[in-house]
Order: sequence, then structure tokens, then C-alpha cells
Amino acid sequence: MSRTIFVTTALPYANGSFHIGHIMEYIQADIWVRSMRMSGHTVHFVGADDAHGAPIMLKAESEKISPSELVARIAAERPKYLQGFHIKFDHWHRTNSPENIALAQEIYLQLKDAGFIESRTIEQFYDPVKKMFLPDRYIKGECPKCHAIDQYGDSCEVCSAVYAPTELIAPYSTLTKATPVLKSSEHFFFRLSDPRCVAFLQEWTNGKNAQGKPRLQSEVLSKTREWLGTGQDAEASLNDWDISRDEPYFGIPIPDAPGKYFYVWLDAPVGYLASLKSYCALQGIDFDALLDPAGDTEQVHFIGKDIVYFHALFWPAMLKFSGRKTPDALNVHGFITVSGEKMSKSRGTGISPLKYLELGMDAEWMRYYIAAKLNSHVEDMDFNPDDFIARVNSDLIGKYVNIASRAANFISRYFDGALAYHSDTNELLSLATTTAAKVRQDLEDREYSRAVRTIMAHADHINQAFDSAQPWVMAKGFSTASPEQQAALQDICSRTLAGFKALSVMLNPILPVLGNKVARELFGMERDFIWSDIHELPTHIAPFKHLLQRVDPKLMDSLLEAPAAPVVQPGGEAIAETIDIKDFAKVDLRIAKIVACEAVDGSDKLLRLSLDVGEGRLRQVFSGIKSAYQADELVGKLTVLVANLAPRKMRFGVSEGMVLAASHADDKVDSGIYILEPWPGAQPGMRIN
Ligand code: MSP
Ligand code: ZN
Repeated sequence: MSRTIFVTTALPYANGSFHIGHIMEYIQADIWVRSMRMSGHTVHFVGADDAHGAPIMLKAESEKISPSELVARIAAERPKYLQGFHIKFDHWHRTNSPENIALAQEIYLQLKDAGFIESRTIEQFYDPVKKMFLPDRYIKGECPKCHAIDQYGDSCEVCSAVYAPTELIAPYSTLTKATPVLKSSEHFFFRLSDPRCVAFLQEWTNGKNAQGKPRLQSEVLSKTREWLGTGQDAEASLNDWDISRDEPYFGIPIPDAPGKYFYVWLDAPVGYLASLKSYCALQGIDFDALLDPAGDTEQVHFIGKDIVYFHALFWPAMLKFSGRKTPDALNVHGFITVSGEKMSKSRGTGISPLKYLELGMDAEWMRYYIAAKLNSHVEDMDFNPDDFIARVNSDLIGKYVNIASRAANFISRYFDGALAYHSDTNELLSLATTTAAKVRQDLEDREYSRAVRTIMAHADHINQAFDSAQPWVMAKGFSTASPEQQAALQDICSRTLAGFKALSVMLNPILPVLGNKVARELFGMERDFIWSDIHELPTHIAPFKHLLQRVDPKLMDSLLEAPAAPVVQPGGEAIAETIDIKDFAKVDLRIAKIVACEAVDGSDKLLRLSLDVGEGRLRQVFSGIKSAYQADELVGKLTVLVANLAPRKMRFGVSEGMVLAASHADDKVDSGIYILEPWPGAQPGMRIN
């Protein structure tokens, strides 16, 4: 039976470029969508930029542009990434769109009519200089537990304590350094504590969808049970949700409440509907009919583990009590780490998807690798460069792509591209059919790594059959060989190519561009593969053309490569263009004490420095000064650090800043490297002006 499915991925904040975590999520969803389409289901796959909130407002302000301009600029770079990784959304929208404004306000008013909105006056930290209420992220101070300085308003990065911003010692606004004051203001709350809401969420989170499957993964369900409680006391356990923010705020105005805006998380998920609505208008599809609560469209959200609370509690409740259709499945994934390290947006670590594309690395490698590592659980997955190279080169190319070239060459040379099966094909077909059925089910269940294992085991099987038949022996003296021997050669090569076709069908959701080439160029089809192609034995092939390159490990090195040697280079170079004092003030130079220093295994240029910059913690910085200094001689010395340089992920770890050193601009002139050292008396953490 053909299904209609509305699929979304989380809407990325529009204050920065995509990182590899976003791309991973989109690849996961895209594979799923493609597989469902290959089954003949109708899928509407939409995304959007999440435009609202304080960080976007403040970032735009610092760039002296409007928030909408910032959002538009970020939106303009999205297609490069999406096309680059073969991610095929039907539509991409934004939450600061007319559709979203109208829908968010409509939903709010419906919730209000149903008695779910309440107003209350609360006290919050307010920046008297900036004249705005401060989100927790913009308040810092001394940790009340361990007394580390410069800790965020909600938790301490040193001792992991969690607290309210009002508990901080000597709190200050990170925007102006002003001491925040408590100020009261009226806020609107969504009454999640309403017994109707708790009862509904109990039912919804524990329930099954129309496919008879649980809506939530078991680990997600245990989380919601923790939040909701399971017994009679349940009502006490959900707090009402503060959905309003005071101006200045980049958001959607709350109807009949001047100066009040929806908190970004109220209108963000509504953006799913807004994007679909905009798509429907373009395509002439009936949006309301599609999302009729009594209809049978399935609504499936792919999200990461950090935003479960919003999607498993707030979102279904908003939909339910505004009289709408609720989601059928939440597909939650873990986080991607790189070489075991957590990537952090604020520290700019991880691997750059844009650099990946710019280096000419093949998107299908990444899709294959991610598929090979993902399962249906909320588990983190590690991007390991060596594992990436091994899987692509040995499995994808070695086992799959090579099968085709080996068999196709004989068929082209001796049989003019004609395939023929001179022995019984029942087993061949039935094995392909059962294997593909398993793979298709695993893809639907998001057990991608199991699907890839099944596919590769099938590839092993095909390779073994080919090798044990020794077609290269059969091909010797082909023109004078017996008709039986000639037929045997054609038979084994045809079976092998039939196997290759079956593998290509199974891999098609993961490797759509490769699949497209195989279908059209090798097998002469006029469309892409669909699942039912598994039942058809191919009858001819075109001469084999190159399908996919191996990964050159040098490319991987470049992807992970350190930035240019961390030294400044005057001398032998013209003085750079004039800057004003404001430009200079952007560079935060600090006195740093070299607490420890060691050579870096595997690098002949770098030393790893542990620096005290007076922050109550040590920073790790890699510096290309190994040729000039022994590790030991630097320990205990003071030097100068560029302290606000975006951290860089290097092959050996994250470098949190750059140590200043002098050298000749032309690195072929070896006149040495000279690290800077302050006059005596300077203390770690002092700023250099
Ligand atoms: N704007 C909100 C989502 C609103 S949805 C109505 C948001 N944006 S985000 O840009 O921070 O994250 C977008 C998605 O990327 C989320 O699903 C998040 O879990 C995912 N990821 C962010 N970092 C990630 C990894 N390191 N690995 C995998 N996914 C990650 O949250
Ligand atoms: Zn602490």
C-alpha cells in the first residue's frame, strides 16, 4: 500500500554555516526518504532555516546588518552544501516567513482559546546598559560551587555544577560587562502542567503509530518517562513553559501583547508546517487535507538528541491542543564526534563540510561512511579518518565497484555487451530478493549499518563465486574455445553483473549519484533504480566507465590539516594595509605562562603547549616552533597568546589560540623563529594593548 509521508529534519539556526553534525542528520534523513520513494511512497521532505532568537539578533547587530539580512545571507549558502552532499529536500524555507508568522500566531490563539496560555509576572536578570533581559548564555560570573571564574549563567564548565544565574557570584553581562539587575516583567506560559496535557503526553509518548510501531525509540521513551513521571503524581512533574520574550527580540510578535515576542522554540517547530505549506502552495497540493488529523499522512521528524524535550513534549502538545495532527515518529540520532572529540559549534571544531567539498572529496564516500556507522539508537558516532579511508577503499571500492569492472570487461570484449544466463537463475534471483528485502526493511528501521553489512556480505558472496569460477582462465584462447566454455564465461560474468545490479539497487538510497550512473550508463535504463528492479535480470551492458575514485589519504590529511603555520611573519614582506584601533581591539592578546610543553608524536613541526592565561584552566595550543625550541626550555616562560582566535581542530587535538613568534615572511629563508617574551613583571592573563 502506498503511503504519504511528511518528513523533516531539525531546522538549523541561521547564524552559522552547516557543520558536519547537520550534514550527518540530513544524510540520515535523505537515505530514509530515498528508500521510501523507491518503494513507491509519496514523500514530502522539507527543511528551513531557524531564523529567530537572541543569538541571531546580536550577531546581526555586531555586523551592523538586520537579522533578516543575516538570515538571508546564511540561507543563500545552504544549497551549496545540500547539493554537494546529494541531499534532496523538496523545499527549504525559513521561520521568519509570512507562512510561519501566520501559523505560529494562529496556533497560539487556538491554545489560548483552549485555556492553555497563562500570563504571570516573573523576575529576571536585565542588562541596564544594553536595556534587555539576558538569556542565561549571556550572563557569566564566578561558580558558586568551585569558584571558577567566567562561568555561564546555567552551569559551570569546570565542575559541571548546574545552578540559576542568580546564584552566580559577581554576575556580569557578557554583552556589556555591566552587573545585571533583577527586573520583573509579564510573561506568557504554555500550561504543560494542565492535567489534559499530562494525560495526552502520557498516551502519546507511550503510544504506537499507524504503522504499529512505537512513536519513540526506547531510550527516548525512558527520557520522557523521567520527565513526565509515570504515576498519579505526574502532574507535578511538568513545569509550565515560558513562551514569551520581551523586546528587543528577533521573533514573531505575540497577538494583542505589544512588545512581547514568541520565544524562538515556540515558532521553530511551527516552521516545519510553514515550509510544507509554502511547498504545497508551489506544487498545488492541498496543505490542510495533507495534515488533516483524521487523514493518513505520516509525519516523521529527524532530530538530534539535544532537542528531544522540545520535540517529544512541547511540540506534540502544541499540535494536539491547537486541534492539529500529531507526529507519527520522532527519529532521534546521537552526535557525531571527530576522532573521539566532541565537536563544538562555539569552538569551531570538527571537520568542515565545505572544505570536504572544496577539496573535491566525493560526497558518496561520506554518505557511505555515515550509513555504515548509523543505527536506530541514540548513539554518538565517531568520524575516524583511518576507518573512513578503509571502509571506502576496501569495502565500497574493493568489494562493490570492482566487481563491475572485472566482469564487465569480459562481457564487452567477447560478447558485445550481451548478458546471458546459461544455467538456472532461480537461486540467483531469490537470494537477491531476500537480501534486498532485508536491506529495505533495515533502511526503513534506520538500521543502516546492519543494511550495509548485509550488502557487503552479499558482495563478498558475488566476488567469491566470480573468483572460484576463474573466468580469466575461461577467457584464455577465447576464439578457439569450445562453445560450452564460451557460454560458461558469459554465464559467470552475467551472474556477477546481475549481482552488481542488485547491489546497486540496495545501495541506491545511500549512493544516489552512483546508482544513477549505474542504472543509466551501465544498464541503459531511462530512470533511477526502484526496489522492484531487484526482480529483473539485466540483459546487456554498455562498456564499463569509471564509477568511483578511491580516497587518497593525502586528501584526508588536507581535510584535517592544521591551519597555516601558527607564526606571524614580518620581515621580507610589505607592511599590511592600515587598520584602525577598532580593528586592532578585536584581537585579544594575553600574557600566557607556558606551564607544560612537549613534542607532538607524528609531527616534525609542532610543539604542544599548555598555557595559563589566568582563566582558572589551561589552554592547549599547538605551535609550529619545534625547529627552533626544545620543549623543556620553554616551560615556565611567559609569552604572548592570541586568546580570542577561533579554536582549530588539528590532527592531534584542538588548538585554542596562537602563540606569537617572529620569522622571515618567506619560509625558504631560514633565519629562525623567535617566540615573544614580555619584560619581567607581566602576569598571566594581562591584556596587551
Ligand atoms: N534550531 C534548533 C532546532 C529547531 S527544530 C524546530 C537547533 N538548531 S541547531 O543548528 O543547533 O541543530 C540542528 C540539528 O543539528 C539538531 O538536530 C542537532 O541535534 C543537530 N546537531 C548539532 N550538532 C550535532 C552533532 N555534533 N552531531 C549530529 N547532530 C548534531 O537545534
Ligand atoms: Zn564550578
